[in-house]
Amino acid sequence: MPRVWLITGCSRGLGRALAEAVLADGDHLVATARNPAQLADLVDRHGDRVRAVALDVNDPAAARAAVRTAVDTFGQLDILVNNAGYADVAASDARWRELSESIAFDAAP
Ligand SMILES: NC(=O)c1ccc[n+]([C@@H]2O[C@H](COP(=O)([O-])OP(=O)(O)OC[C@H]3O[C@@H](n4cnc5c(N)ncnc54)[C@H](OP(=O)(O)O)[C@@H]3O)[C@@H](O)[C@H]2O)c1
Repeated sequence: MPRVWLITGCSRGLGRALAEAVLADGDHLVATARNPAQLADLVDRHGDRVRAVALDVNDPAAARAAVRTAVDTFGQLDILVNNAGYADVAASDARWRELSESIAFDAAP
């Protein structure tokens, strides 16, 4: 039985690599990116097993909508990988707060 994944930050890097691996393994995926046009090749190659959704992880309403897409499209959500983001080793206090808030988004539907 295929598992249903939601992965943030699928445009490139680790998120893109994990998205490719999940789809190669036969699972279902809600792939998200700030610019979903960057996910068009995943949809072209994997069709109905993947949904491309616009999501900036600083936007709680968009996060809830992405979770809703998983449930509405595939009937469930098994695995959430909140990968999107970047490290800033010289961050100011305000910048650390912004990074922490983006990591801690509330994705409850
Ligand atoms: N690579 C490492 O060695 C390493 C080590 C420890 C932790 N990490 C963490 O692992 C995650 C991925 O790392 P990476 O090396 O793959 O980074 P990356 O290549 O810089 O990719 C970052 C990804 O996050 C997305 N992103 C950034 N801010 C976003 C936002 N506000 N909303 C939605 N998407 C956003 C980017 O989308 P855009 O294309 O729209 O910019 C991109 O898809 C990061 O959280 C990083 O801190 C990485």
